[in-house]
Amino acid sequence: MERERRGDQEPSGDSLPPSMALLAPGQDPWSLLGLLLSQLFLALPLTARGGGQEPLPRITYRAGDGRRALSLFHQKGLQDFDTLLLSGDGGTLYVGAREAILALDIQDPGVPKLKNMIPWPASDRKKTECAFKKKSNETQCFNFIRVLVSFNATHLYGCGTFAFSPACTFIELRDSYLLPISEDKVVEGKGQSPFDPAHKHTAVLADGMLYSGTMNNFLGSEPILIRTLGPQPVLKTDNFLRWLQPDASFVAAIPSTQFVYFFFEETASEFEFFEKLHTSRVARVCKNDVGGDKLLQKKWTTFLKAQLLCTQPGQLPFNVIRHAVLLPAAASAEPRVYATFSSQWQIGGTRSSAVCAFSLKDIKRVFEGKYKELNKETSRWTTYGVPEISPRPGSCSVGPSSDKALTFMKDHFLMDEQVVGTPLLVKSGVEYTRLAVEIAQGVDGHGHLVLYLGTATGALHKAVVSGDSSAHLVEEIQLFPDPEPVRNLLLAPEQGAVFAGFSGGIWRVPRANCSVYESCVDCVLAQDPHCAWDPESGTCRLLPTPIPKSWRQDTERGNPGWACATGPVGRSHQPQSRPQIIKEVLAVPNSILELPCPHLSALASYRWSHGTAKIPEASSAVYNGSLVLLLQGGVGGLYQCWATEKGFSYPVVSYWVHSQDQTLALDPELAGIPRERVEAPLTRVGGGAALAGQRSYWPHFLTVTVLLALVLSGALLLLLASPLGALRARGKVQGCGTLPPGEKAPLSRDQHLQPPKEHRTSASDVDADSSRLGTEMA
Ligand SMILES: *[C@@H]1O[C@H](CO)[C@@H](O)[C@H](O)[C@H]1NC(C)=O
Ligand SMILES: *[C@@H]1O[C@H](CO)[C@@H](O)[C@H](O)[C@H]1NC(C)=O
Ligand SMILES: *[C@@H]1O[C@H](CO)[C@@H](O)[C@H](O)[C@H]1NC(C)=O
Ligand SMILES: *[C@@H]1O[C@H](CO)[C@@H](O)[C@H](O)[C@H]1NC(C)=O
Repeated sequence: MERERRGDQEPSGDSLPPSMALLAPGQDPWSLLGLLLSQLFLALPLTARGGGQEPLPRITYRAGDGRRALSLFHQKGLQDFDTLLLSGDGGTLYVGAREAILALDIQDPGVPKLKNMIPWPASDRKKTECAFKKKSNETQCFNFIRVLVSFNATHLYGCGTFAFSPACTFIELRDSYLLPISEDKVVEGKGQSPFDPAHKHTAVLADGMLYSGTMNNFLGSEPILIRTLGPQPVLKTDNFLRWLQPDASFVAAIPSTQFVYFFFEETASEFEFFEKLHTSRVARVCKNDVGGDKLLQKKWTTFLKAQLLCTQPGQLPFNVIRHAVLLPAAASAEPRVYATFSSQWQIGGTRSSAVCAFSLKDIKRVFEGKYKELNKETSRWTTYGVPEISPRPGSCSVGPSSDKALTFMKDHFLMDEQVVGTPLLVKSGVEYTRLAVEIAQGVDGHGHLVLYLGTATGALHKAVVSGDSSAHLVEEIQLFPDPEPVRNLLLAPEQGAVFAGFSGGIWRVPRANCSVYESCVDCVLAQDPHCAWDPESGTCRLLPTPIPKSWRQDTERGNPGWACATGPVGRSHQPQSRPQIIKEVLAVPNSILELPCPHLSALASYRWSHGTAKIPEASSAVYNGSLVLLLQGGVGGLYQCWATEKGFSYPVVSYWVHSQDQTLALDPELAGIPRERVEAPLTRVGGGAALAGQRSYWPHFLTVTVLLALVLSGALLLLLASPLGALRARGKVQGCGTLPPGEKAPLSRDQHLQPPKEHRTSASDVDADSSRLGTEMA
């Protein structure tokens, strides 16, 4: 609405045409069509618009970063750790891998311990048949475990693709160890597991019955929702009535007290469109459905589906659902389903993702509204009101349904209204494949929603939604060095960890490592509900239960001025502008000093200060966050690297540089702050071997070269004793940038004399290793 108002001010390229006023609840499908058409043809700079406010991970950890130590379970000969199941007591993780099922002990922190493993290969006969049907005996003709559920106290139930011939079996447990599978206990698993390991599927056990959604044939053209096991009759979707499009692809099944909801994606038949249009759906069936008598025999009599919408103004619709999970009703909130979506369209070669929240109440309301009906002559969908049949068809009324009601249900399976989700997070350039959610209790007593999101390139994002604010990304952890999708995510609350399955194993990712945040300011700015500042120990720590009231945290606003204030709030406005420690560095005249500054937060901007004076521009440069300083007379004193985040500035590191030429009086304000002598990386001018080439520190080398050039020009300046002459000489200094670093190469030709501008480095470029040596040059 805001957009439309803006739109009639001036038709700038930035404003969207009226048809772009994005889908309002209950909007006609034709406006979706119009929307798509306008978006496709007008090629609007959509993502650029929305991209401005999209959250950036505050900290990014590359694979193998020691600050976020993860444990990997893997085993030679095992691959495709696709299916995860937590035991009832939370201490054992059951894993369905390729041709094997494993039981892992996860009670102790660190690498999960293998309790035992049972092989479950596809039979040789099935493998031969599979290869004969032109499927690969190297990648496809195996038993990929797809279903693993806890059936009762003594048995698991599992299904696999079994070399394109789905099979299922009960697996007996003894003390949460798996007993071997006997071949005669293996039964056909059509409809429970897909044939093709590449096909999507979902299954959930509710009241002793298995509700599964997958492809029901070898070709993968016949989707099915089926109920099996347990005392109730086996029920299926009707293939002939086209309740599901042939390409329906299931991502989640969520039971409630009365219903089982299925989340999937399929071609939208209700919109005519020149290209195949995907849409996301929620379908539901009643748990107490027993099927029809004469009509709809052995078929669902309560199958209904509705469109799910996850859109954000100014963005292409996120029309492809990837995964969905339920967060059961917490103390105050109603039960909600959280789902990740991507778009079928790409902008600039990258996909974007969104996380939307759907309340079960909204879903229920849509299923109680009007229906859509296909006019068989015109092949167009029209709205059909509420039928005058009681009880309402598709409701979970007990007792047999009338023939009239069943006839109605055959053709009225699509709801008219859409279920509109609340977008919590929109992120471009990322494909979220899986998610897990939990509520974390903060010091303030409020529950904060935490989303763990696995990406298609093997990263894990931890997102937090507090109150009504939009999500912020606390961190991004790259799990694998080589990009590959996170196949499954499972939260183990008792263990305080998330388990991520991928092709080569299982990662255990602790919820947080609060020790990464070294000061109260950093701890509070992180806005991680799992971490809080303990004033007693002076450390950022994992929040225990019961929650200590004295610990400092501000998950909602991340305001350290308030949360880290010592003494009465308001009196000390900037609690941490005093450094915690001062690092003393001894300056050697005519050398180049490198003062590192770790860039922990990608959300902060960093700058250097020199006491109250300005940083001497002529003899310094900021390279990769570090201040590179040419030590001449008079440059000693206090150097501080400041971070500014959420309008709050604080020193990240403070150096006191001792100059031999000058005796400097210490600022009385800094009295009483502990000091620590450090060896800052020094580059001696003259002497030493060339390390630059070896360590491929070429830009660094250039920076130093520029500074050296400044020394030379300074010397020239003295010689010529004329500012004008010096300037000219500066311009003329020439060298060869491609000379090996060992050679005397004062200045590269294409180097500007101006010190390079500070790079806004991402947090992954954090320069924490202050002990390393700087470049030495001949
Ligand atoms: C947590 O971070 C600290 C500080 O960076 C590091 O020393 C420690 O090893 C990390 N621990 C884990 C479990 O990642
Ligand atoms: C797959 O079949 C080919 C030829 O039929 C055979 O050479 C190869 O060893 C088989 N691979 C496996 C893993 O069985
Ligand atoms: C669990 O289910 C299996 C398979 O139906 C059955 O054999 C077993 O007796 C059941 N165990 C219990 C404790 O009900
Ligand atoms: C910046 O410094 C970090 C930490 O020392 C290093 O890993 C990174 O490669 C540096 N970046 C560049 C562009 O030199």
